[in-house]
Parts: sequence; C-alpha cells; structure tokens
Amino acid sequence: MNINVNKSKETILVTGGTGFIGSHTVVLLIENGYNVCILDNLSNSKIQVLDRIRTITNLDKNDERLKFYKGDILDKIILNKIFKENKIFGVIHFAGLKAVGESCIIPLKYYDNNISGTVNLLEVMKENNVKNIIFSSSATVYGEQSVQPIKEDAKLNEPTNPYGKTKLFIEYILKDLYSSDNTWNIVLLRYFNPIGAHKSGLIGEDPNGIPNNLMPYVTQVAIGKRSHLNVFGNDYDTPDGTGVRDYIHVCDLARGHVYALGRLFGNHGLDIYNLGTGHGYSVLDIVKTFSKVNNINIPYEITSRRSGDIATCYADPSKAYQEMGFKCELTLEDMCRDSWNYQKKNPNGIE
Ligand code: NAD
Ligand code: UD1
Repeated sequence: MNINVNKSKETILVTGGTGFIGSHTVVLLIENGYNVCILDNLSNSKIQVLDRIRTITNLDKNDERLKFYKGDILDKIILNKIFKENKIFGVIHFAGLKAVGESCIIPLKYYDNNISGTVNLLEVMKENNVKNIIFSSSATVYGEQSVQPIKEDAKLNEPTNPYGKTKLFIEYILKDLYSSDNTWNIVLLRYFNPIGAHKSGLIGEDPNGIPNNLMPYVTQVAIGKRSHLNVFGNDYDTPDGTGVRDYIHVCDLARGHVYALGRLFGNHGLDIYNLGTGHGYSVLDIVKTFSKVNNINIPYEITSRRSGDIATCYADPSKAYQEMGFKCELTLEDMCRDSWNYQKKNPNGIE
C-alpha cells in the first residue's frame, strides 16, 4: 500500500513516536516513503522500540530515513535543534500522558505535559515556519452522547477527568490558532478505542502496572498474570448490559494518519475526523471473540460500574471516508488475534 504516493520523501516529526500508536504510525510512514524524526522522552516507552521499528522496516542503524531524538516537548532547545537540523514538513503530535486515573491524582503534571508541551511545540513550529500538524485527540471529548453513532459535529461535553480535559483544551487551542492565522493546516483526529498490535508481534501496547484498559487486561488474564477480568457493570442500557465501545485496530489507526497527512498538502485549513470502525462491541463481545479466535478461556466476574464510564460510544466514520478515502479494514477477530500474538511474544512487555 502506498498512500499519498507523490507526497512522500517529506520529513515528518513524530512526537511520542516510540509509544503504542506512534510506533505503528512510524512504520507506515517509512513504508510509504516518508523520512521520520522521532522526539520522545521515553517516559512511557522503551528505546528498544526503535530497533524493532528498524527490523520491521528493514532499515539499518545508520539509515537517515529514521532519526531519534531523546527529549521533551517542553524543551524548546531540542525542538529548535530538530527544526534546524531537518527540513520538517509537518508534525504528527502523539506525545502526551494518557492515564485517566493518574490524571486525577496529578492533574498539574497532565496540564503541564500535555497542554504546555503542545503550546511549546506550536510556538517552535511557528518560529520555524512549519504550520502543518496532526493532533491525537480522543473520543473522550464527546463525553456522553444520546445520539449514536457519533458525528464530528456533535456538541462536545466536558470530560470527567483531567486527561480528557487536556484533549478538549488542546482542540480549542488549535482552533484559536487557526482562527488567528489560517495559513496553518491542522487535523484533529478523534480516536475511538485502539487495540491490536503489528502482525510481527514486535511492537504493541505495553501498559505500566495493572492495565486500566480492557484489551491489555484481557491479554494479561490470558497469559496468567491476572486471575480473571472484572467486567465493570452489566446493567447498562446496552444489548447485554455491558459497556459498548468502538474498537479500532492500531494498524488501521496508524493508516488513518498517513491519509490525514494528505490534508496537510494544499490548504485544507482545520479538519476534524473520527477514527473508528463504526461498530460498537460490548465487553462480553470482546471476551467471547478473544476466547474464540485464540482458543483461550477468559474467566470473568461482573463487578460494579467504574466511575466516569458511559454506556455506549461508537463512531460515525463516514466523514473520514468521504473526505480522505480512509476506512478501517481489520476486524475484531484480527484485533483479538494480534493483541494476543504481541502479549505471547512479549510476556513482560519489551525488555
Ligand atoms: P503512549 O503512552 O504509548 O505514547 C505516548 C508517547 O509520548 C510515549 O512514548 C511517551 O514516552 C511520550 N511522551 C509523553 N510525554 C512526552 C513529552 N513531554 N515529551 C516527549 N515525549 C513524551 O500512548 P499512545 O496510546 O500511543 O497514545 C498516543 C497519543 O494518542 C496520546 O496523546 C494519547 O493521549 C492519544 N490517545 C490515545 C488513546 C489510546 O487509547 N491509546 C486514545 C485516544 C487518544
Ligand atoms: C478509557 C478512558 C478514556 C480514554 C480511553 C483510551 C476511562 C473512564 N476512559 O476509555 O478517557 O480515552 O480509555 O483508550 O478510563 N472494562 C471492564 N473491565 C476492565 C477494563 C475495562 O469491564 O478491566 C470496560 C469498561 O467499563 C468499558 C470498556 O471495557 O465499558 C472499555 O474500557 P477501556 O478500555 O478502559 O476504554 P474506555 O473506558 O472507553
């Protein structure tokens, strides 16, 4: 697959490029002919991911198509150094802290890292006259919606936690920036629930400690690290009473970014897209599908609802298809198979 075939050879700065979604996107960027500079402070990823990206993409260590800078988006010196040393066309901005529970305990850290970090990045981009950016937003900005599937023009609701608020505030910041100077090209991508891993099993999601999210918890039950899954409530107004979400394979999500890059060429202004499949699956659908495709029993217990959870959230993905030609290709079976493949090959994460 080669997307934006005439536009490749440009250099993209990928902040947070050794993380879960960033690493899969970097692989696809390289496979599509882009040059990549990663900036990551390794606060939630490992340096070994770089070698794994090189293995998947057949790059040797000295290949200039992939450069790595260890550093922080809060540090203007390293940001300026990257812009001076490379002819950056645009930025895909993944760097951020993302643990919902932790964000309630250390909100200032989240506001500083995610919001001040983004403002810092935007200032340095402006100084260097690079005005193309794709930002990792989240379906969390929709909050609870009575109408499903959710369209991009739905009224946004205030998220219940500081993490979600950072996403909403950054969307506002980017909208204000665009209003003040419409020579910027900005794409806000609202991700639904990314799961799965690269087919090779070399890169995937490596949560710290006890996983908060469903799929990493399920794979840790499968590998015997946890005795059973706690299903947070079966009294929601959904077909089987458990929460319904739109799970998207991380490789589809990564591909969405390569399509979104197409919007940065030419003057499209500010665009907002949902990245989801348009299908809602319940917690028990995930348990059943995972068990079936991998032939592993997942013991579970129904417990009380988790505070802040909503019943149902799934995307209307038609805008991304109509305007960018992007749609998801991988199924829930693929997601369950690839998540398990990664967990099996990396029982203790990347070591
Ligand atoms: P991740 O934690 O795996 O990756 C984020 C990367 O950013 C990590 O490698 C981390 O070390 C780096 N980082 C964090 N703060 C930094 C800083 N100040 N300077 C430099 N590097 C920094 O997370 P992910 O799942 O790949 O998510 C990527 C982005 O997508 C995040 O902004 C996240 O909020 C957003 N998002 C994720 C999900 C999800 O379910 N994974 C859903 C919606 C939105
Ligand atoms: C969560 C975050 C959201 C963030 C997203 C990133 C909360 C309240 N929301 O969304 O802000 O953008 O992750 O992926 O944390 N579940 C269980 N047992 C578990 C774990 C989850 O039953 O051990 C259920 C949840 O109740 C939910 C579904 O599984 O119905 C999915 O949960 P999760 O993977 O945490 O994602 P979200 O809650 O959608």
